[in-house]
Amino acid sequence: MKKINRWLVFVLSGTFLMAGSTVVYAIDEATIKRGEQMYMALTCFACHGKEGKGMVRRRDRKNKKTGKWKYRKGDPMPGFESYPKLAGQNSKYLFTQMNDIFDGRRTNGLSAAMLGIKIMVDSTAKEGDLQAIADYLSQVK
Ligand code: HEC
Repeated sequence: MKKINRWLVFVLSGTFLMAGSTVVYAIDEATIKRGEQMYMALTCFACHGKEGKGMVRRRDRKNKKTGKWKYRKGDPMPGFESYPKLAGQNSKYLFTQMNDIFDGRRTNGLSAAMLGIKIMVDSTAKEGDLQAIADYLSQVK
């Protein structure tokens, strides 16, 4: 009986420990939903693609006459080769980078392209929206 009790305590405490760590690390559903909505509302998708997966071809296409591939699914869209994919990146990294670009600390490459929506972000985004977008994007598979 004593043995069983100890085993029970062990199993139960393990369960609580796991539940506890889930609370700390998991991004909750409401934040993901909010991030997804703001990602669409602030038109981020126009340059970073659906779900932040980059501006890529959605399907294969062949030249009908020659039978050669014009492009394949996943190929970058012409002109968008340097527009970064955001899906699956670390949330903290995404949040820092977008703030650095919006606040003018990061000016490399094509980052100026993002400043076109800064006015909208400043006027529309509420406290926590950019963090929610970063959280949402980080968990896109
Ligand atoms: C007009 C096009 C455009 C729009 C709209 C846009 N971005 Fe960007 N974004 C870019 C480009 C281009 C870069 C790459 C800058 C560079 O060359 O370093 C970038 C970079 C980023 C980065 C840094 C990525 C990295 O790997 O370092 C993040 C994060 C980001 N954008 C988030 C967003 C979010 C969130 C939105 C919506 C609020 C948004 N962007 C809207 C064009 C855009």
